[in-house]
Amino acid sequence: MTNSSSVVRSEKLGNVACITIDNPPVNALSSAVRAGLLEAVQAADADASVQAILLVGQGANFIAGADIREFGQAPKPPSLPEVCNRIEDCAKPVVAALRGAALGGGLEIALAAHYRIALADVKLGLPEVQLGLMPGAGGTVRAPRLVGAQASLDLMLSGRHVKAKEAVALGLVDRLAEGEDASGAGLAYVQELLSKGAPVRRTRDAQGLADRAAAQAAIDAARADTAKKARGLFSPGKIVDAVQTTLDKPFAEAVRLEREAFMACINSPQRAGLIHAFFAEREVVKVPEAKAAQPRALERVGIVGGGTMGAGIAVSALDAGLPVIMVERDNASIARGRANVEKVYDGLIAKGRMTAEAKAAVMARFTGSTSYDAFSDVDLVIEAVFEDIEVKKAVFAELDRVCKKGAVLATNTSYLDIDAIAASTSRPQDVIGLHFFSPANIMKLLEIVVPAKVAPDVVATAFALAKRMKKVPVRAGVCDGFIGNRILAVYKQAADYIMEDGASPYEIDEAVRAFGYPMGPFQVTDLAGGDIGWATRKRRAATRDPKARYVEVADRVCERGWFGQKTGRGFYLYPQGARVGQPDPEVLAIVDAERQKKGITPRSFTADEIMARYMAAMVNEGANVVDQGIALRPLDVDVTFLYGYGFPRHRGGPMKYADMVGLPKILADIRRFAEEDPVFWKPSPLLERLVAEGKDFSSLN
Ligand code: 3HC
Ligand code: NAI
Repeated sequence: MTNSSSVVRSEKLGNVACITIDNPPVNALSSAVRAGLLEAVQAADADASVQAILLVGQGANFIAGADIREFGQAPKPPSLPEVCNRIEDCAKPVVAALRGAALGGGLEIALAAHYRIALADVKLGLPEVQLGLMPGAGGTVRAPRLVGAQASLDLMLSGRHVKAKEAVALGLVDRLAEGEDASGAGLAYVQELLSKGAPVRRTRDAQGLADRAAAQAAIDAARADTAKKARGLFSPGKIVDAVQTTLDKPFAEAVRLEREAFMACINSPQRAGLIHAFFAEREVVKVPEAKAAQPRALERVGIVGGGTMGAGIAVSALDAGLPVIMVERDNASIARGRANVEKVYDGLIAKGRMTAEAKAAVMARFTGSTSYDAFSDVDLVIEAVFEDIEVKKAVFAELDRVCKKGAVLATNTSYLDIDAIAASTSRPQDVIGLHFFSPANIMKLLEIVVPAKVAPDVVATAFALAKRMKKVPVRAGVCDGFIGNRILAVYKQAADYIMEDGASPYEIDEAVRAFGYPMGPFQVTDLAGGDIGWATRKRRAATRDPKARYVEVADRVCERGWFGQKTGRGFYLYPQGARVGQPDPEVLAIVDAERQKKGITPRSFTADEIMARYMAAMVNEGANVVDQGIALRPLDVDVTFLYGYGFPRHRGGPMKYADMVGLPKILADIRRFAEEDPVFWKPSPLLERLVAEGKDFSSLN
């Protein structure tokens, strides 16, 4: 018995039809796979010599789910619910042998099978929510029947992956098998079931919802929790509704209604944004240097500076399993650096997420020193000393003196010219920027800043380090602020103008939160410390364009020593160390005074007007950054903002957002704003070009 489809094979092994899904890289359920699977299952069910059916995936995974690339195109038959129903309807036992990913539609296929066996490396889950979706092939109907409402809601609302042991404990999987041969283990299990005369056992008949009161309580709790946490997200509410339907309606109707709700999710802009984010974070590592060159060996890491960033970077390196040598200025500073590192692990111990033994084992890989000679054998050094070009050059002179040939010399500078730092050494080919974000052990983003003379294998090494540290790396070119902070400076300026023209900082923060950010820009300033931006503004004062508009409110706030949370007040008041700030009438008075000084009559802004300006500024500078080659593609800007600046993931990133709004609208906004302030609002040449050509940013990804 063979099957015509190239992505689904069916072979008869004695009395068992073994159906293999073979659609690299992850056996996603493309329309060809669905068609092939349906045909193979029908044929096996109709074949009188077949007594049982085994479903397996070729390679390391069972099935990673629906083919995400097909979303947004016209759906092609057969649908996945149809395939799942046909599997469940089979008159002979169907066994799914799982390994690797059995996710989304892949798990739904497994749930439609009558028995499930898994290898130890299995990852099961219903992660659709992370793509703005919900299970759409019976997942919301079969999972609650199999494992109950509470467990299935947890799976569907978190999207988390469940490992083998938990899958058995939950009842998602019947049996675990040793080894790496899913079809071998599956065949043995099939024979055992046949020899016992095991019946066809359909999940639709399972009794996980027998205790209706418990199920209803779980649904109510999930609904309340979702209302609190799902801030503006569309699909979580649909998931809860679907489980309610499952409890209230017969099986077939619940499956039909699930499909309707799934299609509503498919058609939502959030799905487009989230799936863009999924692919963008996989594309972002595909950079020319990483393709052209092999990374250098990376066994030992050095760090200069044990302050906020140096300590966080040390934790990231230690967590990646690397030995770390930290150099500081003197004994007191190195003791403080070590204490900063230990504080992170002590926090984990206090939360019960680490043992004292585990901390001791990690700290055994940490060495502190006051002598650069300690770096003689490191493969890579990351400098995180004060943001001062002369101090950095002095540090790099020392690194140049002591480090072995071929060691990678990296700086964590936020704004300084890395070409100039590289030029101050005798080995510019080894110098690169590794711009971590604070707190460095938590934030995922790592800008890999590529100076003119750096060797490709140094860039490849930086990407390899990011992978090892589980960071999301973005390649950036050298300029003031690289990708993220450069764009931030521009939209922060737009926020200041909106404030001076009439909106309060609190209205602006609220509009930005309503858009989907966890915090608004003035809250972020208070959290990071107003003094940091103040120092930068003072540094730039001499080179500022005298014609450009400059808002002094933040300087007035800082002059009073109000640096934000750490000083108990900034743009907000933080009485008794409160973490959530309260509006401060004195700040509003400062804003008013500044307006009066400049003769500005305040006007009101709606949240939409605030966001139109905020986003236009962000997108326009994003376009400049792409146009000037600072970012390789628009998607690199998107990933930077998703992972470094809290940009709402369901909007895909600023450039994807602009595509969805339409570039002509963004450009028209900018031209309108330019009528008031042509110095600040200058349309990016790239934006103008794309609009003229009728293209969008995605054409450059
Ligand atoms: N469809 C299409 N392509 C997919 C895919 C999918 N479902 N899942 C992964 N891929 C692609 C990736 O884009 C990547 O392609 P590339 O090599 O060209 O960049 C390749 O497969 C390998 O993926 P990863 O780099 O992510 O490999 P990992 O080994 O790190 O992870 C994985 C594998 C755990 C399967 C991970 O890819 C993943 O989580 N995939 C998404 C799973 C998912 O969300 N499934 C639900 C889909 S929605 C659904 O099923 C709806 C249904 O209810 C109707
Ligand atoms: P910090 O002031 O907390 O720490 C700097 C440390 O460097 C101090 O412990 C100091 O003793 C040490 N140091 C100074 N000169 C030294 C020398 N010659 N040799 C050895 N050690 C020396 O500063 P922070 O915030 O950690 O910043 C460090 C760098 O990271 C700066 O370049 C900054 O721009 C950058 N950065 C900061 C971010 C932040 O949010 N704090 C974010 C991203 C980058």
